[in-house]
Amino acid sequence: MNSLTIRRPDDWHLHLRDGDMLRAVAPESRHFGRAIIMPNLVPPVVTGAQAASYRDRVIAAGFARPLMTLYLTETTDPTDVVQAHADGIITAVKLYPAGATTNSASGVSNFENVRDVLTAMEAAGVPLCLHGEVTDADIDIFDREARFLDRVLTPLRAAHPDLKLTLEHVTTSEAVDWVRAHPGVGATITVQHLMANRNDMLAGGMRPHFYCLPILKRGTHQTALRQAATSGEAQFFLGTDSAPHPTHAKESACCSAGCFTATHALPLLAHVFEEEDALDRLEGFISLHGPAHYGLPVNDDTITLSKGSHLDFPARIEAYGQSVTLFDPGHPIHWHVVD
Ligand code: NCD
Ligand code: ZN
Repeated sequence: MNSLTIRRPDDWHLHLRDGDMLRAVAPESRHFGRAIIMPNLVPPVVTGAQAASYRDRVIAAGFARPLMTLYLTETTDPTDVVQAHADGIITAVKLYPAGATTNSASGVSNFENVRDVLTAMEAAGVPLCLHGEVTDADIDIFDREARFLDRVLTPLRAAHPDLKLTLEHVTTSEAVDWVRAHPGVGATITVQHLMANRNDMLAGGMRPHFYCLPILKRGTHQTALRQAATSGEAQFFLGTDSAPHPTHAKESACCSAGCFTATHALPLLAHVFEEEDALDRLEGFISLHGPAHYGLPVNDDTITLSKGSHLDFPARIEAYGQSVTLFDPGHPIHWHVVD
């Protein structure tokens, strides 16, 4: 198969930032119809009014159909969340355990303090997106997702069985198994977790552009993720988690977490699905399963991917005096989006 025409895809987990960085990166997601926009700005997007104003800035920066989220804190007002969802301002609420990742200091430490919000969301049908890692200093970074499943997610699911959940950027076979055991729960998978494992990041030199959270795991987990993504199971869909950081912040003694994949996500995914002999399932993963999970229509136009010469993507994009380095899998890619 050298050409593939499919429904226009969506990105169910995207970081666009704000200001100059927003203006630089928003056009890079142009092949996607909609995207769930993460709220971890500094300060975070915590009220419906802030989400509406951020939505307007995203649209002005050139991404026409953002789906906004609120950042859940221990002081989030349940009425504001439910109203923002009823008004069509937000699509979901994002839960970051405090300290789990980039700009997550205002996240949740004590889950008892968000019970009322979760109960109100459950009653009103507001979806919750989860960054699924515990943050206790005594838990090894490679175990933080698996521990989150038993310590947080299983009790949360039992307490709120009707709350619509998306487990974001799953990275382990344990998470894949947990999702399969809980019908109705959705899970996003990133490009980098399908393309790489921790050896790619750490063997033969430390590669900061492979560093993201949740951190890349061993190859057996990468295999489980590739199997889930290419299986055709509707619980699994694309969330790139494309997360721009200035090159100097990545190439640093204390590297920021995040891989920037928006520009070439679709060719990279076509490469993965071809390797798995599953190109016929790419459309489900990137264009159909996400809308079904969120109860939204699929996009009505299409895109075409074609296979040909070596994809010539830039090493960096310019961002108003700074640069953002693209995730480079380290081997040639031959798929292109036909513009
Ligand atoms: C994200 C970011 O930079 O905002 N970083 C990352 O490594 N994925 C935050 C996140 O989604 O965890
Ligand atoms: Zn993210």
